[in-house]
Amino acid sequence: MIKTKQRRAVLVTGSSSGIGYHTSMYLAENGFTVLATVRKESDATRLREMGNPNLIPFFPLDLTKPNQIESTSEKIKGFLHSQDFNGLYGIVNIAGGGSIAPIELLDTHAFHSELKTRILGPVILLQHLLPLIREAKGRILWIATPALIPSPFLTDIHACDFAVNFIARTLKLELSQSGISSILIRCGGIDTTSPQKTMNKLKESMSKWPYEKLRYYKPTLENLKKEFTEFDKKRTDPLRVARVIHRALTETKPHSRYRVGYMSGFAAFLELFPQPVVDWLLTRRYRNAGEAGK
Ligand SMILES: NC(=O)c1ccc[n+]([C@@H]2O[C@H](COP(=O)([O-])OP(=O)(O)OC[C@H]3O[C@@H](n4cnc5c(N)ncnc54)[C@H](OP(=O)(O)O)[C@@H]3O)[C@@H](O)[C@H]2O)c1
Repeated sequence: MIKTKQRRAVLVTGSSSGIGYHTSMYLAENGFTVLATVRKESDATRLREMGNPNLIPFFPLDLTKPNQIESTSEKIKGFLHSQDFNGLYGIVNIAGGGSIAPIELLDTHAFHSELKTRILGPVILLQHLLPLIREAKGRILWIATPALIPSPFLTDIHACDFAVNFIARTLKLELSQSGISSILIRCGGIDTTSPQKTMNKLKESMSKWPYEKLRYYKPTLENLKKEFTEFDKKRTDPLRVARVIHRALTETKPHSRYRVGYMSGFAAFLELFPQPVVDWLLTRRYRNAGEAGK
């Protein structure tokens, strides 16, 4: 019993692939009991079959569905109680998707779903599990972009990143008396299958969008496709994000933000400039991208 009390349980969202998968594996191999949440039973089975006793899949957790958030939270409470854990030590909010589209052509159903996955869902989850985090004097981690600067055609991803930034920092203030940390993990380009999925979605969308609207953006999008292909070659191994997350969970005095991944340093540097300067630089950049794509 005493031994179990010394172990720390951490919930990870989006454990089926990419950053969430690597983080779940790494934490489970490095001393944490990982409550690895996934949407699909097949992913839960795959994780269970890995045979790591520290990796415990929970499903279904689709963050757009409040009833699943509630039932998973209840299952987690029951599990932690039955195993005599001292509360929940961490929530690592990773799940997310996103698309490339000009705002004029954005699929607003998908945007709504992304807002639920990245913002509302994690807040509901937090509301259910905060008493357990309090018990453990735990930490809440949020994956987001390295810089709060406008990113044309990445609105659903970056609008969520801005909101995540706001929530993570506000939570830090609201919980400052309780010994709970709210930490931003600011990621640059990470080498997962998600960029390819996003690019495939863009190609499909471009074949469906009405040409009378698409024509205004097509040269820039064509050029960006080339730039993204180059960018994708330099993306960072997701294992490095997993290591940073492990640090954020284990350092005695954690920072309120960590940065990792390709171009994250440059993006964070750009964020330091006044907003009109950033807007001016980006306007030039996207005007040039449009010219180059013609
Ligand atoms: N890759 C990058 O360069 C990068 C950079 C900065 C930030 N990020 C952020 O990091 C997160 C993970 O990205 P990734 O590259 O690892 O992507 P990924 O490999 O596509 O993984 C996305 C994960 O989120 C899950 N997910 C999606 N919608 C969900 C929902 N409604 N409810 C619960 N789970 C859901 C997916 O589950 P299914 O398998 O069931 O779809 C999957 O496990 C995203 O939030 C992304 O914005 C990524």
